[in-house]
Amino acid sequence: MTALSARPFRAGSRIVSTGSYRPARVVTNEEICTWIESSDEWIRERSGIVERRWAADDESVVDMAEAAALKAVAASGLAPSDISMVLVATVSHPYQTPSAAAELGERIGAHGAAALDVAAACAGFCYAVGLADTLIRSGESEHVLVVGVEKLSDFVRKDDRGSSFIFADGAGAVVMSPSDRPGVGPTVWGADGAQKDAITMTQNWIEYRDDQTLGFPALKMQGQQVFRWAVGEMAGVAQQALEAAGITADDLVAFVPHQANNRITDAIVRSLKLPEHVHVARDIVTTGNTSAASVPLALDRMLESGDVGHGGYALLIGFGAGLAYAAQVVELP
Ligand code: UT7
Repeated sequence: MTALSARPFRAGSRIVSTGSYRPARVVTNEEICTWIESSDEWIRERSGIVERRWAADDESVVDMAEAAALKAVAASGLAPSDISMVLVATVSHPYQTPSAAAELGERIGAHGAAALDVAAACAGFCYAVGLADTLIRSGESEHVLVVGVEKLSDFVRKDDRGSSFIFADGAGAVVMSPSDRPGVGPTVWGADGAQKDAITMTQNWIEYRDDQTLGFPALKMQGQQVFRWAVGEMAGVAQQALEAAGITADDLVAFVPHQANNRITDAIVRSLKLPEHVHVARDIVTTGNTSAASVPLALDRMLESGDVGHGGYALLIGFGAGLAYAAQVVELP
């Protein structure tokens, strides 16, 4: 029997460029407090959020992904036709099928590129970076576009006091390419399905179809349960990602955690004993929690603002519904 051929492996992959899109509409805490009983002070204290961005009614997940992706592709120096794989991390694309990724690839000129969506919620972008790294190193893909995008304002009930002040909209993107040495460390990932109800939907589409008095399916979060899980478990996951990459916290220039809640970020920073020189992403203050988009949005802002230079190591971690998580060290473009 003739042995099957396999593609030759590569030494590594790396992020070569970033891009982002923030919707124009700024929603302040004061505005949020017109539909829930809360206060600017409470929201700032409990989450760190001062304001967030919401997309316009006619602005879709794919529109936002396109804006971020075009910036990342332009910054990579590649032509859109060089992209052979499109991965879109999202849980708010309102179609069961086709994927946001297939539509996005066509829109940006990556005609014929392989395309799929990654539904790992707030861990989605870090999952997709891990997948892209594996695809590139295995020789299966060359240049991969990875996008994290959400329009959570479509899926959160405005009167839900436990989550309407947290979630928001936006898109972030990176282009990943082959490298002659690893520019992405091993991804440490997993999920705790036993806690699947901690962040779920109020009901599923079939239940809604059969009884519309239940209301449109919306996100429902057990905030304290998720908070405790994140604070208890995520520092250990982040530490494993450092060890898997063969570096220590001293070697980092940046820490870019999912922008879930500044108090969760504080707890992870304390547990990891991050040195003072490590820049910690706090994009949540003006962006809110954008689930799969939060890590690439924060990463792009850090680089664009000059808060961190190019070429250092950043530790990324995403965590949320599932309860799923993923973390890795990346070399900054
Ligand atoms: O992105 C995916 C992963 N998600 C996360 O990581 C989010 C994790 N969870 C959180 O960030 C926090 O749980 C929240 C920010 C969502 C909530 O903060 P919390 O400190 O856990 O609040 P809580 O639910 O424990 O509520 C504390 C108190 C309660 O009052 P009592 O029982 O102490 O009198 C609530 O009724 O705050 C009250 N409360 C509010 N007060 C003003 C709850 N929501 C609000 C509100 N405004 N919006």
